[in-house]
Amino acid sequence: MTRAPLLVAILAVPAAAQSRTDSLDALMQRTLDVAAVRLRTAATSLEPANGYPRITKPDGTWTLVSRTQWTSGFFPGELWQMYAISHDSSWRSQAERWTAPLEVNDTRTNTHDLGFIVFTSFGNELKLTGNTHARDVVFQASRSLSTRYSPVVRAIKSWDTERDKDKRATWKFPVIIDNLMNLDMLFWSAAHGGDPKWKEIAAQHALTSARSHVRPDGSVAHVALFDPVTGAFLGQANWQGYSDSSAWARGQAWAIDGFTRAYEATSRPELLATARKVADWYIAHAPADGVPYWDFRDPGIPNVERDASAAAIAASGLLSLSRDITGTASAQYRVFAERSLESLLSRYVAPPPSEAILAHSVGGKPQGVEIDVGIVYADYYLLEAIRKDRALRSGSPWPE
Ligand code: GLY
Repeated sequence: MTRAPLLVAILAVPAAAQSRTDSLDALMQRTLDVAAVRLRTAATSLEPANGYPRITKPDGTWTLVSRTQWTSGFFPGELWQMYAISHDSSWRSQAERWTAPLEVNDTRTNTHDLGFIVFTSFGNELKLTGNTHARDVVFQASRSLSTRYSPVVRAIKSWDTERDKDKRATWKFPVIIDNLMNLDMLFWSAAHGGDPKWKEIAAQHALTSARSHVRPDGSVAHVALFDPVTGAFLGQANWQGYSDSSAWARGQAWAIDGFTRAYEATSRPELLATARKVADWYIAHAPADGVPYWDFRDPGIPNVERDASAAAIAASGLLSLSRDITGTASAQYRVFAERSLESLLSRYVAPPPSEAILAHSVGGKPQGVEIDVGIVYADYYLLEAIRKDRALRSGSPWPE
């Protein structure tokens, strides 16, 4: 080979990569501009006393739900993320206004969702401002969440199903894969002056979840059932996915992000191995554009809905995983996350007059609710993924 073609070959790859980088940068900025308008309009025109954004109605406006719902922390969490990105104090004022009313949740012991509710709101406030009252709320929520831990099962109970009128009434001690996402609050609190036993509770929960939710092939079940007296694992079940043996896309995404966070907090190699196993399965089975169908094993694919929320959560988790390791796998996780982000930002941003950033998420398809709508947590994890990707490429602060 002569020198000239070799030089062209060497230069060609970085040039292509550079142009992909430039276009993703531009897409991220354009979406942040859209997000700023939509979030500011909602934050100033709505009142927390009337409820918190959850899903979009057909006209694009938010359906508001009680501040005690598991999704209530995400809207204030988005406002905190805009503050982190812009350092504009008006975002902080709005974030504080939407965070404060959620304090009523911190003494609740009837839900496992305290991380989702309190750590996205007060947790972001604490990390961004150091506010000591926010720390007190986060510690109290950690205390409350830890009461749901069973040392026999070695997990935090997800749902109190005793009074349910559906199949869940027979579930004595259900643990859902989503519950991994509540552990971060326990890990953080234990590491910052809280009770050290919260770390052990969270670590044991993650290890139990790795043994019971994750199948040998790397796909993930939504629910694991236990005997509350003996602690015995009774089998896998399903609520929000297609079936007991299917792979609900958001559950797989919660697993990627949740096991990665648990590994980062504990440095336990078996949690890194589990995070990589569920991530590898996700990448091998997702469509090439990185936006999964709502359940990987719905026999109706390709004529079923995609779930943008799963893509956003998985992208955020994969970016963390790529940062935690080195080598080819690290690059592969980052490339897939960026491809997913590029798809979301170029084809899934909701057209006006939507109040959500992303369209096309699925909440509870088996229950016939929240199908192909904008959902607040899709937007929250999209902003988090953008912050992570910007941190990796330009050295801005990593969102802890
Ligand atoms: N935590 C419930 C869900 O992911 O829909």
